[in-house]
Amino acid sequence: MHRDPLIALRPWEAPEVTSWGRLPMNAVDRRARALSLDGRWRFQLLPSPEREPGPAWSWAELPGSWALHAAEDPPQYTNVRMPWPEFPPDSPAANPTGVYEREVTVPADWAGRRIVLQVGAAESVLLVHVDGRPVGVSKDSHLAAEFDLSEAVRPGEPATVRLTVVKWSDASHIEDQDQWWLGGITRSVLLYATDPLYLADVTVRARLDGDLRVRCQVRHMAGALPDGWYVSGELDGDRFAQDAEFDRVNEEDERVSDFLGEVLLRATARTVRTWTAETPELYDLTVRLHRADGTVADTSHHRVGFREVEIRGRDLLVNGERVYLRGVNRHDFHPLTGRTVSYADMRADLVTLKRFGFNAIRTSHYPSDPALYDLADELGFYVVDEANIESHDHAHEIAEDPRYLGAFVDRVSRMVLRDKNHPSVIIWSLGNESDYGANHDAAAGWLRSHEPTRPVQYEGAAKLDWGATDDASDIACPMYAPIEDCVAHALSGEQTRPLIQCEYSHAMGNSNGTLADMWAAIEATPGLQGGFIWELWDHGILQRVNDGRPAGSGGAGLYDNGVAAPGLRWAYGGDFGESIHDGAFIADGVVFPDRTPKPVMYEHREIAAPVRLSVEGEGAWRVLRVHNKQHFRDLSWLAAEWEFAAADGGSWTLPARLPAVPPGDSAVIDRPEVLDGAGEIWLTLNVTTAADEPWAPRGTEVCHPQVRWYEADADELLVGAEGSSVGHVPPPATDEDGLLLHPLLTAPPTLSLWRAPTDNDVLGGMAERWRELGLDRLRREPVAVERKGSTVRVRARWTTAVGPVEHEQSFTALVDGRILVEETAVLPEELTDVARVGTVFETVAGLDDICWYGQGPWESYPDRAVGAPVGHHSAAVDDLFTPYLRPQESGGRHGVRHFSLSGGEHTVAVRLDEPRQVSVTRFRAEDLAAVAHHDELVPRPGCVVHLDAAHRGLGTASCGPDTASSYLVPSGVHRWSWTLRAL
Ligand code: GAL
Ligand code: MG
Repeated sequence: MHRDPLIALRPWEAPEVTSWGRLPMNAVDRRARALSLDGRWRFQLLPSPEREPGPAWSWAELPGSWALHAAEDPPQYTNVRMPWPEFPPDSPAANPTGVYEREVTVPADWAGRRIVLQVGAAESVLLVHVDGRPVGVSKDSHLAAEFDLSEAVRPGEPATVRLTVVKWSDASHIEDQDQWWLGGITRSVLLYATDPLYLADVTVRARLDGDLRVRCQVRHMAGALPDGWYVSGELDGDRFAQDAEFDRVNEEDERVSDFLGEVLLRATARTVRTWTAETPELYDLTVRLHRADGTVADTSHHRVGFREVEIRGRDLLVNGERVYLRGVNRHDFHPLTGRTVSYADMRADLVTLKRFGFNAIRTSHYPSDPALYDLADELGFYVVDEANIESHDHAHEIAEDPRYLGAFVDRVSRMVLRDKNHPSVIIWSLGNESDYGANHDAAAGWLRSHEPTRPVQYEGAAKLDWGATDDASDIACPMYAPIEDCVAHALSGEQTRPLIQCEYSHAMGNSNGTLADMWAAIEATPGLQGGFIWELWDHGILQRVNDGRPAGSGGAGLYDNGVAAPGLRWAYGGDFGESIHDGAFIADGVVFPDRTPKPVMYEHREIAAPVRLSVEGEGAWRVLRVHNKQHFRDLSWLAAEWEFAAADGGSWTLPARLPAVPPGDSAVIDRPEVLDGAGEIWLTLNVTTAADEPWAPRGTEVCHPQVRWYEADADELLVGAEGSSVGHVPPPATDEDGLLLHPLLTAPPTLSLWRAPTDNDVLGGMAERWRELGLDRLRREPVAVERKGSTVRVRARWTTAVGPVEHEQSFTALVDGRILVEETAVLPEELTDVARVGTVFETVAGLDDICWYGQGPWESYPDRAVGAPVGHHSAAVDDLFTPYLRPQESGGRHGVRHFSLSGGEHTVAVRLDEPRQVSVTRFRAEDLAAVAHHDELVPRPGCVVHLDAAHRGLGTASCGPDTASSYLVPSGVHRWSWTLRAL
């Protein structure tokens, strides 16, 4: 037997032991008045919890994860599988155990007070000793643990506090979330003192009618409560008192013991400014506990929001309104510090989400840092608060295992006790991917009885609900359900609950195809209310390339715009030498590891736009209508201007005035004085914030709704407004095989059917098929070259595994110096669903700038293109490329009508016959497909230009539905034309 009883009991292999010596969870926030114990602690990493620490200590900063600095136990990434074979509740013998130790001197004037240690979060079992004596044990890596040290320390004298963190345990089996395995203490450690008479908990209930009820639990460290204490409240400066009726009923109730330190405060707010995610109105509440003589023994501050959540039929209502949840799944993550995230970074995350139209967060898959909920209250987010339970690899066994029953109830109840007062929390979640069993029902039972003011959800209990009513989920919350299935379910007459996908639109690599189509279906179908995109982050850990170590903390200039600085890279699964791992599946967020938004964010911003624009009527009678898509706000917080863009006439702006439109309504907006331009004209409403918002200074872009005002005539796009003609000019030069010869092109225009596989292409099986078909290595055989007048007609055959693709190009010299290229490709029937059909060519070096008329400025693809307005855009060629962590097809622009590349004396200008998918990068598809990390790419000096007659949608097949069939590239005949001017 180990001589230390905490070790001897082996609590890391006892799921029945969820804690020992730990204080009950509560919602009294002590952070502001506490003594921080963050900073340097003595540290050693033991190979197992049963080993005694030796005399040699190093140092560790808390909060922090040792995997990010201790070479012996680097980060490891697994999705579903456990990193070791032991069956629950066992853990492996090799079990890294971090021992943190330091001296703490409690201030002398804390003598006689109740002294509490709080450890913010420890992965996965925490053992606490003071001066060698056992104090307590705690599990649940994402909630704080508190221990009463009043007996263990003597104020004014140093005590040695030891925090032992065991990495692998019975609890690891229910913390099998899809993320890095790290170890350590990831949130702050602090110490605070209270009066012996103290507020043990405060529960706030603020209703829409202004009725405020505050239930307070009062305790005394000696046990029995002294006589005469009372509690008072203050709401935004208005004082209010204990509810006498509540006291009287308690007094008369024989069953209530004298000890019961429970009181109720009641007040009615005079004017209620209700809380919603759009209008996050908060009131300041102070609760004071008084001694008999009126002096204050304890206080607790809360920010209160008056709001109500309810489910009526199959609608989830906030303050009586059916709201859409435009959500994202958010882990605690930072590329340098792992699951330790600073307040400033959390705030920056939420500000970014607000600016891109998100209004909801699911705290996947565990309770977030407490500060996140304060920020969600303040900035306005609906939160699905999720308990730290995911038993993925052994889900079936654990869901019914009574040894884990306590852990399920413990994790759910402690989350609820901590977060119950946040108006932002509108739904509780029992956890993620843990099958469904009696342990869930037990946790749901506790929750529904104790805290009935919010609904509860659990994906495992109700995917599409099939009419069931007696389970642990009030919401049908499937993940990655095809939108057609959701619509069919909503129309089936079987739906009994709101349908809000807990995860959808997997953001791995270049992804999120059909997001706009999904939202069109959601907004058109009663019963569907939105969902949570998977996920916010690419969890790339910043890694030094030379020695493979995490870059650790600190230092400016480590990354910029999603790209790691030279010598560094974003590591994903396998990069730390792990043999069991799940590769780049950890890089599946809508922002890069450094929080730079990916192009999908702009798509989302437009889909979620508070203002939409539509055209009604015909010709001279056309009117423009603005729609207010918000649930609670009018448009007075927004400003707007008109922008016109003409294909060949540049763009110009005019002032706009948004009409007053109540939420959910629409109104005609004054039509701007439309100037006639040549050809196609687009009209955009550039909407910005009219005044400072907490998440956006005045003038911040909000959305860019757009309508086409004039369509182009046939051929106008290709030839331009002035027109151009064929005359007596010699045909363009080609070699004997019919390949175009031009001094500014280093590779002639040829056929391309392939793209560097995206993560969706790889995991969806398309990439393998394309390789089997030989699309990545087409071979060209010239068939015929004919010259006639100003035209060279070239026929060629491209070999694939299923037969040839016939390809014809005709090059015509135009009078104005351009070359007109007309192409046809005929794909045999077996070549259906290819990546693209189009032209690829390469230019000389030095053409480093691009201007284009088409969609932009950010990257867009056929099924992810509503967020990129049509207009005149310009950029450096290098900036077109999106540095997805695992290199893949990227940098494309949809709906391009014409563009020119320039630099030095040279220009290469291309006009297309129709709006087409175009990409200009420094990389051939094969360059991108050959490497695993962005830093391994070697840019080519010239431009690699793709003009696509058809380009496959992106879809989300890495986890979920592929793109819709309308975005696939079919076999058969493809025709496209373009002109080239190269000077
Ligand atoms: C879900 C899971 C998430 C994540 C996602 C794929 O099944 O809940 O945690 O693994 O798939 O990235
Ligand atoms: Mg999982």
